[in-house]
Amino acid sequence: MSITMTGFTLFHQAPFRLCRAIWETIPSSVRRTPTMVRVGRYIYRNFVRDTVRFQSHYTHFLRNPPLLSAVASLTSGYPANGNLNIISIGCSTGAELYSFLHAIKKVRSDLNVKAQGADISEVVVEVAKRGIYFPDTPAAEGGLYVAGRAEVASKDVPSLVEILEPLADGSLRVKDRLRQDVVWLTVDATDERLSNLVGRQDIVLANNFMGPMPDELAERCLVNMMGLVVPGGYLVVDGIDLDIKTQVLKASRFRPVLTSQEEIWSSESSRGGWPWLRWAREPFDRSEADWAYRYSVIFQSGDH
Ligand SMILES: C[S@@+](CC[C@H](N)C(=O)[O-])C[C@H]1O[C@@H](n2cnc3c(N)ncnc32)[C@H](O)[C@@H]1O
Repeated sequence: MSITMTGFTLFHQAPFRLCRAIWETIPSSVRRTPTMVRVGRYIYRNFVRDTVRFQSHYTHFLRNPPLLSAVASLTSGYPANGNLNIISIGCSTGAELYSFLHAIKKVRSDLNVKAQGADISEVVVEVAKRGIYFPDTPAAEGGLYVAGRAEVASKDVPSLVEILEPLADGSLRVKDRLRQDVVWLTVDATDERLSNLVGRQDIVLANNFMGPMPDELAERCLVNMMGLVVPGGYLVVDGIDLDIKTQVLKASRFRPVLTSQEEIWSSESSRGGWPWLRWAREPFDRSEADWAYRYSVIFQSGDH
């Protein structure tokens, strides 16, 4: 306690920005050593973790390509022509779910995929349902939270031709084969009746909305998400406090899936700035005792 208080006092005597500037002069190879990661974690836990938390509708297509590939490859374990239930909770304007559907259907066109997207904000759910986006313009304006970046940047349009088709007015629409049959709902992820509303799922995407929640609510919400997954199914969970994720999942029936773990963790350039920004990505540190849980995004339910 006294060490923490002394550190806190000393730290606050020095200007925060100066400390960050000094940190950034350290070569990144040195910053990634286990000792420096531990220093960074100390800074994060004591001075950054409890700084301002805010929700947004930030999302975009193909947000984490290694994650899309890894989840798609896991579907190889499902029987030919079988059913696959997938839900994106906190789906925002739909770019995440459409990206996953594209990745899965590419490798398993035989599966009967039943997809649902759910968000607390009705406005973004309506956008997701329409599946129409203008390049460089966030479609989530008017939603409950800050809109965030555009779902599609002009420079990325050529890489999205398999997902989006151009319309005469300059907008882009999600192709019919991805839009058809998706069910969109306005729901609160913390609602304990959620599994009655949406049913249990083979794959639950629960990304980037628990991080801004107060700790106790985030913990309850994660348990709620876990309860949606069928035995043997997968929970994909990112953008949540790492201590909460590790503690809750380690004590559960879920086990980390290590396929492409480090690649998935290192993807997404928008997560730079650790340890000075709350939502930034902690460097992957294999010397950390709980590294398998801490740096995994995909978890499998162990009740076979
Ligand atoms: C940052 S976006 C993430 C979108 C997408 N999951 C992704 O990772 O790209 C977070 C979304 O979660 C939604 N959200 C926040 N709290 C929620 C809650 N309690 N229940 C359902 N959705 C929630 C917000 O409305 C927002 O659209």
